[in-house]
This record gives sequence, structure tokens and C-alpha cells, in this order.
Amino acid sequence: MYRNPQAESLNDTIKEESKIVYELFSEKGKNIFFPKKGILSQTEQAKGKKINATIGSAIENDGTLMCLDSIGSVVNLTRGSFVSYAPGFGNPEIRKKWQEMLYKKNPSLKGKSFSVPMTTAALTHGLSMLGYLFIDDGNTLCLSDLYWENYDLLFRNAYGAVFDTFSLFNGERFNIDSFREKILSGPKGVRKVILNFPNNPSGYTPSSAEAMQIVSAIKESAEAGNKILAILDDAYFNLVYEEGIERESLFAYLCDIHENVLAVKVDGPTKEDYVWGFRIGFVTYGIKNGSRKLYDALEQKTGGAIRGNISNAPNISQLLLLNAYNSPEYDHEKELKYNTLKERYILVKKTLAQKNQYAECFTALPFNSGYFMCVKLAGGIDGEAVRSVLLNDFNTGIINLNNLLRIAFAAVPTDLIPELFENIYLACKKVAGS
Ligand SMILES: Cc1ncc(COP(=O)(O)O)c(C=O)c1O
Repeated sequence: MYRNPQAESLNDTIKEESKIVYELFSEKGKNIFFPKKGILSQTEQAKGKKINATIGSAIENDGTLMCLDSIGSVVNLTRGSFVSYAPGFGNPEIRKKWQEMLYKKNPSLKGKSFSVPMTTAALTHGLSMLGYLFIDDGNTLCLSDLYWENYDLLFRNAYGAVFDTFSLFNGERFNIDSFREKILSGPKGVRKVILNFPNNPSGYTPSSAEAMQIVSAIKESAEAGNKILAILDDAYFNLVYEEGIERESLFAYLCDIHENVLAVKVDGPTKEDYVWGFRIGFVTYGIKNGSRKLYDALEQKTGGAIRGNISNAPNISQLLLLNAYNSPEYDHEKELKYNTLKERYILVKKTLAQKNQYAECFTALPFNSGYFMCVKLAGGIDGEAVRSVLLNDFNTGIINLNNLLRIAFAAVPTDLIPELFENIYLACKKVAGS
């Protein structure tokens, strides 16, 4: 396939700075580049000229961007700013702010360097861009057996990944043996892994000790000569409700663990800041001894993939978020929402602990964080039948995943939580015919 000289030039830089990173790229990843010599750079050069007939936006005769009154009158932001395109890599201010916030939220990042977060159209798009850059048809992607359903479309359907799953749990604990086996055994080569904590669907985050075991296993694998791409899907970051559970992203430990490990953090405000429809996310790279040149080239590659995919992420969302991040009330406002979710989490735990009879029909999988928890149905009770009875007889909706019920306690008003579990119990009894 034809490879543009601009892609070749980025590849040369990446090879010089880290052969490992180059080896981790997919063919599409090797071919992509952010066009420096095309429309964007010519537009940039024409900025400020009396007559500027380069940009693809419509301008009023007074020089401002066109904006319908019915839109401008309901948005409390400068008109020109929020209807304009955002830069392809994202609004530079929000990228910088998000980077600063990463340091604040993950104290172990102190003194470590990593790339400037690239803005994507939320996490799904960030993950998809990583598929584009790093997954070739037939590549193995290692992940836990409980994973967000959309990974199938994102990585299998779109990029031809073959999933190789480890068991998330060994009883009540993270199954470190299963993870170690996947990451350490077999012939030496490239390993591509995605880890998602707090996990969707289980609501599990490893304890701090378990997190260190995961990090050690990845380090051992790298020391043994494997080249590892470690994607950290941190969609539910910060929503941890118990002491002793890891509060930092694994990115904080993996971003400088070994020259054979490229860590990529995918995160964003979707769940962290309660803005599901804003469609903003970030992709951030870290590797031991990663040079500024390497990170620039990775940003250019990612920028190229974004440019060819959605062009750029929504500007209005980035501006509204920046406003929040710069507000003195931001931390307090977030804490209030966190407290509401934690209160629900505590009530779920309490309800399950009080109602021993529920164990006849279902038991909870380990959970300590996030939006969800799962219950495993007792043998013989069909999840789809329970779901249907809940909908039809109990006015209640849950998700059935192969006889595992996923319960989004984050979405249920606190006072309805006991009723939710009682309804599930009664529906199970009905399905079981007892
Ligand atoms: C584990 C996980 N990753 C990523 C996402 C995608 O988030 P976004 O809405 O920002 O694309 C979700 C959303 O449900 C999720 O559960």
C-alpha cells in the first residue's frame, strides 16, 4: 500500500526514538499521519489576512462566524467561539488542563512525563482510534472475561481483533494467576492488552495490592522480552467506594515501567463529570524514557487518525468543560455527585447483607466501584426470563448478560434500591416456579 512521505517521516522518528512503539503499530497506524502540508497548514498561514478565503466556515460581513439566533440566544458562551471548529488535536487549553488534572488525580504520576492528552469524541472514539493505530486483522487482544459489550464492535468487528480473555475473578479476588498466564506464558512477542477498572459490567476495581500484582506481571513480561501495548480504559475513574481499593489509574504505574511497555490511557468527562452526551474523551501515551519527539509523533499519528475519522471533537463541549474545570466550585460539585453514588452503593451492600433469602436466587459478584454491579443467578434460573418478568410484572429494567444480571445502581434513585432487589428476587422466584 502507498505510504505518504509524511507518514514515513513520522515512522522514522518513532523508530529512532522507540523501535518497540513502531512494532506495536498496525499497518493502518504505520500509514497514518496528520497532514502538515494540506488545507490545514494553508489555512493557518492565511490567518489574519484581510481577505481569507481558506476556511470552511461561513463568515458574516462583519467578520464574525455565522450563528443562528435560535442557537446563539440559548448558549451563554461567545457565539464565534462555540460554533467554530476545535483544533484537530483538541482545544489546547483543555488538553493542558486535563494533563494537569491527571497529575492531581494520580499522585504517582509526580515527576513522570507523558504525552499531552489528545481530545477525542469521547472514550468510544478514543478506543476506536487505538484500534485503528494498533490492531491488525487477526491480532490477539487480551482482556478480562467480563468486558463492556461494545468492545466487540470496537475491536472485533472494526479491526479484526481476536479476543483472548482471562478470568476476572478467583472467588472474591482479582484472578492474578489467570492474568499472569495470559501475559507471561507462550512464545515471546507482541502483547496487546486492555484493562478497564472500575470494570463494566462488574463494578470491580482491584485492591491496591492486586493492582501492584498486575503491574508486576506486566513488568515481568516486559523484562522477559515481550513488547506490550497496555490500554487503560478509565471510563469510571474516581468512582471507588471502599478503602484499600486502588484509586489511581494503572497508567500512573505503567507509563514508565519498562521500555517495552507502551501505556495508553483512555479517559474523559463522560462519566467522571456527568456529561454523557458531550462526546469528549482523551488519549494519553506513556512509555519509560519516552522523548518529547516520540510523544509528538504519537500525537501526530493519533491526530491523523482523528482527522480522517471525525475531523475534530465538539468545540462547544470542550468550552463548557473548560468553564467547569476553571470554576472554584468544580471539586465541591463533583463531590456531591460522588456522595450520591456512594450512598447508593452502600445501600446495595446493606440490602444484600440483610436479605439472606436472596442467595436462593442470586449472589453478587465482587464490586466496590463504578456504576454497576452484577448478580449471578442460581443454576436453572434463566436471565432472559427474569428480565422479561421484571419488565412486565414489576415495572423494572435490568440488563441480562448470559444469566448474569447487570444492575446500574448509579441510575436508580436511592430510595428505590431495596425495591429493585426485592423485585429481582420475586421475579426469580416466579421464573423458578417456587
Ligand atoms: C468501560 C467503558 N468504556 C468506555 C465507555 C464509553 O464512553 P463514552 O460514552 O465516553 O464513549 C463506556 C460507556 O458506557 C464504558 O462502560
